[in-house]
Amino acid sequence: MSSASHILVTGGAGFIGSHASKALAQRGFVPVVYDNLSRGHRDLVKFGPLEVGDIGDGARVRAVLEKYRPVAVMHFAAFAYVGESVEHPELYQRNNVLGSKGLLEALLQYKPLPFVFSSTCATYGMPKHIPITEEHPQQPINPYGETKLKVEGMLRDLGRTRGLPWIALRYFNAAGSDPEGEIGEIHDPETHLIPLMLMAARDGATAKIFGADYDTPDGTCIRDYVHVSDIADAHVRAIDYLMAGGASAALNLANSRGHSVKEVIAECERVSGRAIAREITPRRPGDPASLIGSAVRAREVLGWVPQRSALEMQIADAWRWLGSRSR
Ligand SMILES: NC(=O)c1ccc[n+]([C@@H]2O[C@H](COP(=O)([O-])OP(=O)(O)OC[C@H]3O[C@@H](n4cnc5c(N)ncnc54)[C@H](O)[C@@H]3O)[C@@H](O)[C@H]2O)c1
Repeated sequence: MSSASHILVTGGAGFIGSHASKALAQRGFVPVVYDNLSRGHRDLVKFGPLEVGDIGDGARVRAVLEKYRPVAVMHFAAFAYVGESVEHPELYQRNNVLGSKGLLEALLQYKPLPFVFSSTCATYGMPKHIPITEEHPQQPINPYGETKLKVEGMLRDLGRTRGLPWIALRYFNAAGSDPEGEIGEIHDPETHLIPLMLMAARDGATAKIFGADYDTPDGTCIRDYVHVSDIADAHVRAIDYLMAGGASAALNLANSRGHSVKEVIAECERVSGRAIAREITPRRPGDPASLIGSAVRAREVLGWVPQRSALEMQIADAWRWLGSRSR
């Protein structure tokens, strides 16, 4: 086994976890991916060993911890479809909440290692003010957001009672792909706007716009898109920060500016050089008009400033990745 420090990356066979694994490898760590491959892809595990297992399987987690003796944990493994969580809340409770509980119990039997958790802006619910800061009330409006908030609560409790050092990173909309094209976004089904619009451009399909009568300048919803490589960079910074003794905290990962659905479509057309046919359908229940995060605290605490989160760059990277997968 390599003498470099190992980091356990749960969910490292998924979209964001694979990018974080690459960022860790570039920083000289060995990412040990722990994933049950329920929604991940073996092909995205390129930067360290893969251990197939479920986060809720405490004995298996313990065995992997003993085998690699990691110095920190990044916890991405979860189910992450809002719509599915509304239909099957019990699935989300079991996988995201009980799974995380099992992982944390196994970890604490080993050692309270620095722990970086994938949280989400969905923990805030309907925005009461824009930009959304970390002090914004957390009142999720779907079971997915609730499961993430529950895990944040566990971390807070375990920090206080068991000395677990933790960072919860609340991402806004992760997009883009590795600029070098080694890894990228693969979700099945895909529900994220940018890959959906690019697939529509590639396939000549009609893209759906859910509501064009919102109280926004062009009537479509505004969201905050942040490049997955920037998210990955924040994770490595969070590990460095905790290993240097930094205090536990919850931090937004946002681009701090929003783009409407129509703006995203226009940029996808420009980048792909293809027209995208569109159909306006009714609003989806629970979609706020605008979600924009404040990343001031992540800058102050981690020195994190997004480098690739200009919309054009996110879309260009995603388009290149889609092209490489279609060949
Ligand atoms: N993609 C986004 O825009 C976004 C935004 C906010 C938060 N998040 C969070 O970031 C994390 C990663 O998201 P993603 O888009 O990369 O998702 P993803 O589905 O691509 O990756 C999740 C990975 O976790 C694995 N997994 C799921 N349940 C598991 C279990 N019980 N045991 C072991 N492995 C398990 C899956 O196989 C998959 O490889 C998730 O926790 C998600 O909630 C994502």
